[in-house]
Amino acid sequence: MLKIETIQAEDLVARHMRPGLPLLSILHGIQAEAGYVPPAVIGSLAQALNLSRAEVYGFITYYPHFRTAPAAPVVIQVCRAEACQSMGAEALAQHIERRTGCRFAEHAAVEHGSPSSGATQAQVSLEPVYCLGLCALSPVMTINQRVHARVTPQKFDALLAGVLSSPAPLSPSLKPSHAAESLSAAGETA
Ligand code: FES
Repeated sequence: MLKIETIQAEDLVARHMRPGLPLLSILHGIQAEAGYVPPAVIGSLAQALNLSRAEVYGFITYYPHFRTAPAAPVVIQVCRAEACQSMGAEALAQHIERRTGCRFAEHAAVEHGSPSSGATQAQVSLEPVYCLGLCALSPVMTINQRVHARVTPQKFDALLAGVLSSPAPLSPSLKPSHAAESLSAAGETA
């Protein structure tokens, strides 16, 4: 994942600025292109939108969707909204934390589902999401934008092992796809 310097940040912001476009939409565009919202863009955004740097930073950090650092090659998102919670999402999230050795919104190095000794570069990051629109198939999660429904701890272990053993994990900077299409691509149905 590329590191964004200030000079590149100005170009990045310029590519996503449109008259009247709200900050939220601009941030979505920046993250879709770069894979995260580099802190270097904050100054340019603040100046362009006549906001303070603190206001822009506060906006970015308010929404869990936005990353301020490059994601690991494998991004795991678990829905923490109500329907999924009622179907075991919290227990699933705790299992994932134990299995990967990190907590949500952190990165971890894992090898075939077990935490490494720490010297390896981070391979997995955990992120919360709040409703993926598949509440009837709870609990729902994504691995590198691919949606998985009715996930149990055992199912998660198998999915993670498959992704980690893949020679080329999908890029976490891929734009989100429609949930139904992703489910279909994964061979999962209701
Ligand atoms: S609450 Fe999890 S998909 Fe809607």
